Amino acid sequence: MRVASKMEEVRNEAGELAQAAVTAHELMQKLVRLLHERVLKYNWVGFYMLEPGAQPPMLVLGAFEGATTPHTRIPLNQGICGAAASSGQTVVVDDVGKDPRYLACSLETKSEIVVPVFVHGKVVGELDIDSHFPAAFTREHQDLVQYCALLVGKKLETSGH
Ligand code: SME
Repeated sequence: MRVASKMEEVRNEAGELAQAAVTAHELMQKLVRLLHERVLKYNWVGFYMLEPGAQPPMLVLGAFEGATTPHTRIPLNQGICGAAASSGQTVVVDDVGKDPRYLACSLETKSEIVVPVFVHGKVVGELDIDSHFPAAFTREHQDLVQYCALLVGKKLETSGH
């Protein structure tokens, strides 16, 4: 019998959390803990959600695991976070030192991924992960993080909160 890889295990656990969670809020808290605890290279894991009705639009820090960040509110024209939310695309940065958009959270961060969360096709927030390792977010990691963002979008669609 083939032994499941660590990434498959984490993916399966994320799916189980989504089935058990009543609200998206609960799911986001459990997912950030799972990803931060189980994947060595994920040193900071958090959700930023668009503030309802804010003009100009604003990303607000929600559930997170890792060091406290000065960036609790990010406008859409700033940071890797703003880029992902405004484009609706996953952004992977292998070397944050070379990306002028990067807003520093920790001097130790070397690479970052930000994946939008969609509800009925519209961006409502995003899942942001920082790593102390350069180029940590290979295709395999992108798939896992996108899956987790998808689970939250689906939970928001079904539970409404
Ligand atoms: N680095 C992000 C800011 C958020 S921290 O990583 C937690 C950015 O450039 O948008």
